[in-house]
Amino acid sequence: MTNILETRGLTKRFGGLTAVDSVDFSVATGSITSLIGPNGAGKTTFFNTVTGLYTPTSGTIAFAGRSLVGLKPHEVTAAGIGRTFQNIRLFGNMTAVENVMVGMHSRMHANVLGILAHSARVQHEEATARAKAHALLDAVGLPAQRADDLSKNLPYGDQRRLEIARALATDPELLLLDEPTAGMNPQETAELTQLIRRIRDERAITILLIEHDMKLVMEISESITVLDRGAKIAAGLPHEIRSNEQVIEAYLGRGAASMAHAHARNGGEPT
Ligand SMILES: Nc1ncnc2c1ncn2[C@@H]1O[C@H](COP(=O)(O)OP(=O)(O)OP(=O)(O)O)[C@@H](O)[C@H]1O
Ligand SMILES: [Mg+2]
Repeated sequence: MTNILETRGLTKRFGGLTAVDSVDFSVATGSITSLIGPNGAGKTTFFNTVTGLYTPTSGTIAFAGRSLVGLKPHEVTAAGIGRTFQNIRLFGNMTAVENVMVGMHSRMHANVLGILAHSARVQHEEATARAKAHALLDAVGLPAQRADDLSKNLPYGDQRRLEIARALATDPELLLLDEPTAGMNPQETAELTQLIRRIRDERAITILLIEHDMKLVMEISESITVLDRGAKIAAGLPHEIRSNEQVIEAYLGRGAASMAHAHARNGGEPT
């Protein structure tokens, strides 16, 4: 088993605050791996450091055997890492399909908005991109009749799906999702769980997920890493994390501890 992503001693300080503290982290190629921990644990900062928004204070980041340290965000995207943001970052005054086409931009020769759309090649490229964007919207379950709506007018759950479609448009090998179900109702969360699984199974994209919904995390993850105050306090299989005393103390608390008991009672089936 190879690791598509490996950090060693990854550290990010903001002044006196160590947001990510000497983290050794591995993501197995083809896995669904989760990163969990309390608010302020450093999860988003870890993503931002891996994706080039922040420069690490120290440590290494290897993606498919290549160092990412010093790369700019668009270079990390081009290297094969797509991501979504905890706070949705869409172009509100662009349509859903245009938002996805922007995601493809790094892979295209022409301006996606067609400002230069004169040559046959450019027009062909635009048509191809538009068709691919519609296919991605369909794949994430955004209703076809909403494709030409301005993204700011989409229901919240559809905006979250659209963010995933835009990230997929960059043709990533590794997809980082930062709390993709935040603000979703249980039905939407269940659908998104299926979507994440399908993205991995059908597109062979490795998934790294930040998520507070423990039902989702325990159900979907093959490996879980736990951060607390910037430091990794545990990594392992869902059942190992669920019963880890230090993790329960720092994050899962009594609710999750009783979940672990329920889990034991019903013979290990997810509750
Ligand atoms: N750009 C920044 N400048 C200064 N401090 C920051 C910056 N970004 C994050 N921090 C601090 O780093 C710590 C980790 O924040 P981070 O957003 O990574 O946590 P998180 O685990 O994603 O939390 P949450 O679950 O609430 O999203 C926090 O104390 C936060 O205030
Ligand atoms: Mg966060």
